[in-house]
Amino acid sequence: MTEAVAALRAGDLVILPTETVYGLAADAGNSEAVVKIFEAKGRPRFNPLISHVADAVAAERIAVFDDAARKLAEAFWPGPLTIVAPCRDIVAVSDLARAGLDSVAVRVPGHAKARAVLDAFGGPVVAPSANRSGRPSPTTFADAVEETGSFAAAALDGGPCAVGVESTVVSVLDGRVSLLRPGSVTREEIEALIGPLDGSGEGHRSPGRLTRHYAPSAPVRLGADAGGEGEIFLGFGPGVGPERWSLSPTGDLREAAANLFRLLREADRETPAGIAVAAIPGVGLGEAINDRLKRAAGFVG
Ligand code: TXA
Ligand code: MG
Repeated sequence: MTEAVAALRAGDLVILPTETVYGLAADAGNSEAVVKIFEAKGRPRFNPLISHVADAVAAERIAVFDDAARKLAEAFWPGPLTIVAPCRDIVAVSDLARAGLDSVAVRVPGHAKARAVLDAFGGPVVAPSANRSGRPSPTTFADAVEETGSFAAAALDGGPCAVGVESTVVSVLDGRVSLLRPGSVTREEIEALIGPLDGSGEGHRSPGRLTRHYAPSAPVRLGADAGGEGEIFLGFGPGVGPERWSLSPTGDLREAAANLFRLLREADRETPAGIAVAAIPGVGLGEAINDRLKRAAGFVG
């Protein structure tokens, strides 16, 4: 813990566990530190990073929240929701971290180790998923270390990530709330709290949503009934495919999200002819799972 905080203060990178996925963290205000993240991940510089802070008060120090943003923060923080809002402090969150935008993405993570680091560090910490750009996000300590550990001065083991898919990203700008990335805080939960989401600009304001993303090396085939020749079949639900490779033998969406990236990685290590995935219901958390699967298969523009 103290080693991780010292590394952040020194402008070095840290492998940071969160409840969603493992992050590769740096001091948001130190552009020399932030540039190391883009280099380690091979991430395009136009793709802005999320600033992680200890609580909602710290969030409002760097972002301008309206009533809707406050409601969302109160309902879902600490937890897997990221709010994009106008940036208030362009020193605490460097230009590079925001990719030059006048908005900032901010989140208060729920993981105890992440919170302890943020408390002790005191300022915003940017942390994209700790994978190399375009690869599945790491949801175990071993996977995070394998992806970007060689670039980090300290690494914290927080166990397997409970959620398993990245945070829900919403923008709250000009009085409109849009869903930029589905996650485990669902569209349904958000709309129950603040009313209908704005659909007009959906996705357009999130510069980082590349077409082929979260992708293993093997081709991914969706909505499969079974595995074909040489394919590994990731099932969902009772009796669907071998249990070893099931996203959730009981058909539970939370379990499927938590297993998704780990199973894609494990399947890929077997160098199969392909990875076939059973159909997953599209409601609730299923929206986030299907979003990541479509990107893994290279389908989303
Ligand atoms: O669960 C998570 O959010 C994880 C953990 C480590 O906290 N982090 C994560 O970061 O997924 P990253 O960098 O992989 O994804 C950040 C997403 C990208 O799609 C990026 O384009 C979007 O947030 N984003 C960041 N700042 C933005 C902004 N100002 N406007 C629109 N989208 C923004
Ligand atoms: Mg990512």
